[in-house]
Amino acid sequence: MYSQVKVLAGGLVHIPVIIGVFYLVQTLFNKRALKFSVDNKSQKLDSKVSSIKAEPKKVSVSNPAAPKPVKKKHADVPVNIYRPKTPYEGTVIENYSLLKEGAIGRVNHITFDLKDSDPFLNYVEGQSIGILPSGEDSNGKPHKLRLYSIASTRHGDNFEGNTVSLCVRQLQYEKDGETINGVCSTYLCDIKPGDKVKITGPVGKEMLLPDEEDSNIVMLATGTGIAPMRAYLRRMFEATEKEKNNWNFKGKAWLFMGAPKSANLLYEEDFQRYLSDYPDNFKYTKAISREEQNVKGGRMYIQDRVLESANELFKMIENEKTHIYLCGLKGMEPGIDEAMTKAAEEKGLNWSELRPQLKKAGRWHVETY
Ligand code: FAD
Ligand code: A2P
Repeated sequence: MYSQVKVLAGGLVHIPVIIGVFYLVQTLFNKRALKFSVDNKSQKLDSKVSSIKAEPKKVSVSNPAAPKPVKKKHADVPVNIYRPKTPYEGTVIENYSLLKEGAIGRVNHITFDLKDSDPFLNYVEGQSIGILPSGEDSNGKPHKLRLYSIASTRHGDNFEGNTVSLCVRQLQYEKDGETINGVCSTYLCDIKPGDKVKITGPVGKEMLLPDEEDSNIVMLATGTGIAPMRAYLRRMFEATEKEKNNWNFKGKAWLFMGAPKSANLLYEEDFQRYLSDYPDNFKYTKAISREEQNVKGGRMYIQDRVLESANELFKMIENEKTHIYLCGLKGMEPGIDEAMTKAAEEKGLNWSELRPQLKKAGRWHVETY
C-alpha cells in the first residue's frame, strides 16, 4: 500500500515536468512554423512584384501555338490625376505652327506649364491629356473634353519636367457650302502664351514604350499621329533628354510618316538630326501622299511604304523584342492591315492570326482617332 502511494506520488511529481517539456516543444515548433510562413509570404510577394515588372511573355511570329502571354500591368503609370470636374488650369507657354510655306491646313505645337499643379500632373511617353475648351455647346452646356496625345517626354521640351506639349491639327471641313471649324482644335490653335487652359489626365497605357533598351520600335504615323512618336524619338536620341532619362536605347527605331506635302512634315529637322547622329539605330521612311505616287498611280500612303519594305519589316517583327506603334487617322487601319496581310503572305505567315498574338504579347499598339 505504502509503495503504491509512493509510486503514484512519484508519478504525479513528473506531470509538471512532462507538461513543461510539451510546451517547450510546442513553442519551438510554432516559431519555426511562423518563420516558414513569413518566408513563404515574402516569397509570394517577391514573385508578385517580379510578375508586375516582368516583360510580357514572348510570342514567336513563326509559332502560332505559343504560350499564353501575360500583359504588363504598368501599375506605376499615372492616370487621371485631374478629372473633368476638377481640371488643372495650365498656362500656355508657347504655341507655334509646325508647318512650312505651302503646307495644307494648320498644325501647331503647344506647350503648357504644369509646375503649379498640386497634386503634380506627371505623365510618361505615350499617354494623352484631356483639354476642356472654353465656352458652351449648342445646348448651353460646357464643352466636353477632347483627348490629345502628348508630344513631349516626361521631362518636357525644356528638360525640367514641368511642362507638357501637344501637336494639334485644326479640324476644318465643308458643310452645305460653309467652312466648319472644330471646337477644341480651333480653340487650341488660337490660344496665346499666358492663357489658362483646363487640362485633365493623364490617360492611356496602350502606347507606352517597353523598358528594354535593346527593343526595336516600329512607328506608323499619319499627320498628328506623330505626337507620341516624337516623344519616343526624343527619349531615344535627344542628347539632353538621354542624360536625364538614363535610358540608353540600343535597338532599332523605324518611323513611317505620312503627310500630304513635304511642307506638312512635322518635326522634320529633329528627325534629320537623329538620322545623322544615329544612322545605325534610326530609319525614317516618308509617304508624301500628294507629291508621290504608289505603284498603282494613286496617292502614296504609309501602307504602300510598308509593302515596299515587307521583307525587312517582317524580319524585325519576327524578333520578339520588336514593338509596333500605330497612331493617327482611324482610316489608315484597314490599309495597314491589308499591307501587313500581303507582307505576311510573302513570308508564308497569316496576319489575321499573327496580329492578335502580337497584341496579346503587348507588342502591337494602336491609337487612332
Ligand atoms: P469637333 O468640334 O468636336 O468636331 C468633330 C466632329 O465634327 C466629329 O465628331 C464629326 O461629327 C464632325 N466632322 C468631322 N469631320 C467631318 C467632316 N469631314 N464632315 C462632316 N462632319 C465632320 N488630335 C490632334 O490634333 N492631335 C492629337 O495628338 C490627337 N490625339 C488624340 C488622341 C486620342 C486618344 C484621341 C481619341 C483623339 C486625338 N485627337 C488628336 C483628336 C482630338 O481629340 C479631337 O477629336 C480633334 O481635335 C477634333 O476636335 P474638335 O473639338 O476640334 O472638333
Ligand atoms: P491625303 O490627305 O493626301 O489623302 P494630315 O493629318 O496632315 O492631313 O496627314 C494625314 C496623312 O495621311 C495625309 O498624307 C493623308 O493623305 C494620309 N491619309 C489619308 N487617308 C489615309 C488612309 N486611309 N491611310 C493612310 N494614310 C491616309
